[in-house]
Amino acid sequence: MVTKIKMEHSNFLLRFAHEHLNFRIPEILSIAGIFGFNINIGEEYDIKSPYLVVELPSELCARQLMSRAVTVRSAYELWAEDVSYHGLFEKLRCLPRSLTDRFTNANASYRVLVDSFNKQICLHDRIARVETLLTDVLPFNGRMDLSATCDNTFCFMEYYGPQGTVPSDNPSMVFFGRWLVDGQREMVSKYQLQRRNFIGNTSMDPMLSMIISNMASVKDSDLVFDPFVGTGSLLVACAHHGAYIVGTDIDYNLLLGIGKSSRAGQKWRKKDETIFNNLQQYGLGCRYIDILVADASQSHIWRPQMLFDAIVADPPYGIREPTQKLGSRKETSSSSSSCDGHIPAKTAYSMTEIIFDLLHFAAKYLTVNGHLVYWIPVHREDYKPSNIPQHECFELIANSEQILNSRISRRLITMKKVKQLDGEENGDLLHLEDDHYAEVSFRDRYFRPQFKSKRSASSDL
Ligand SMILES: C[S@@+](CC[C@H](N)C(=O)[O-])C[C@H]1O[C@@H](n2cnc3c(N)ncnc32)[C@H](O)[C@@H]1O
Repeated sequence: MVTKIKMEHSNFLLRFAHEHLNFRIPEILSIAGIFGFNINIGEEYDIKSPYLVVELPSELCARQLMSRAVTVRSAYELWAEDVSYHGLFEKLRCLPRSLTDRFTNANASYRVLVDSFNKQICLHDRIARVETLLTDVLPFNGRMDLSATCDNTFCFMEYYGPQGTVPSDNPSMVFFGRWLVDGQREMVSKYQLQRRNFIGNTSMDPMLSMIISNMASVKDSDLVFDPFVGTGSLLVACAHHGAYIVGTDIDYNLLLGIGKSSRAGQKWRKKDETIFNNLQQYGLGCRYIDILVADASQSHIWRPQMLFDAIVADPPYGIREPTQKLGSRKETSSSSSSCDGHIPAKTAYSMTEIIFDLLHFAAKYLTVNGHLVYWIPVHREDYKPSNIPQHECFELIANSEQILNSRISRRLITMKKVKQLDGEENGDLLHLEDDHYAEVSFRDRYFRPQFKSKRSASSDL
């Protein structure tokens, strides 16, 4: 077999966490956009593998990437990759000393770790890999130091195919790299919901909230708006990235800490259960601008020159909370009170209307180059890309699926505003080829199995 030798010094290896696979590439591309560099991702990328080789302009770019990424565990300077250990060792032997000496000289302490995916490597085998490296492949002249404080950490990484498949005896891919830096996985535990002051039934988990903030390209001093703010999880992540935050929610009781608690073992919400206190809990209170009780469908409440740098939204799907807006039809339902005792009438607010209003709002109030990031729930069997509305002021940047169960998923849509709205009205600029909710609302299809998908209904005929 001919072994291809390549200088790998501009290649880096990203070791992803095995979670939210569909968000990995969109997240790293978005972060690269924030810092203004390109990532070159090989065409043969295997979405099921946690190892991704990327070309980056410099080590600094890898560090910038890791300063925000939550889908990536660690970044490595890639020294070699191959389909077998034999080939990997050949490539390592051929590495120019000008690259390796800095890390292998007598003054540099080091350790070598072994990571694997879809197969556990026993201690004996791990030691054997390291011994072969040290005796036959690369002369390491420094002191071996197994602690994390050593000067350089190296790692073998072995891929045994996708999780859930039977691993073969030998890895299908092996990598060797110098560890550079870890991603922001510890933020997921820092912001975990169990320890948060104020949570609700639909609080967004911290990892997805961080991904959303990254997809929205939120930067220091940005002004970010969430029209369906709930308990503010998306805005906590945005504040973590330095944004000043504004939110609205139609639920007066929720924002004022009134009513039943969603926390296990606690009957009523406490007065201090507020979004401001959530920010305070993490030392982010200075990022709070305001949270208003308001209906997202009433965009006229905003002054025309209000410009947000990003808009993030997790609209109600009608499953765990009602989809409502202010209005008075026969089917009116209302549960929340306001401070003067007046109970505003509410009416149904369809998913299609919600998304249209969101796009119209963003076309008016988002800065050019600003990002709109929002979730839409779909029935997987019926979903088509043509279900995503298009607007002439926006470019679709990403559309990533999070599977919730075999029937339904939600898709995180990222749009970038590419031009300013001309004039006041923007109805004509919005196009929807195929309304996913036209025949049956998401809620009805979710709760009433007699509403079958178009495809399965026709196959039943
Ligand atoms: C899915 S939850 C958002 C959860 C939020 N991301 C969090 O982490 O807590 C949707 C929120 O939209 C609110 N909502 C529903 N209809 C609304 C409307 N017309 N205007 C503003 N907020 C609305 C609900 O009260 C609910 O809090």
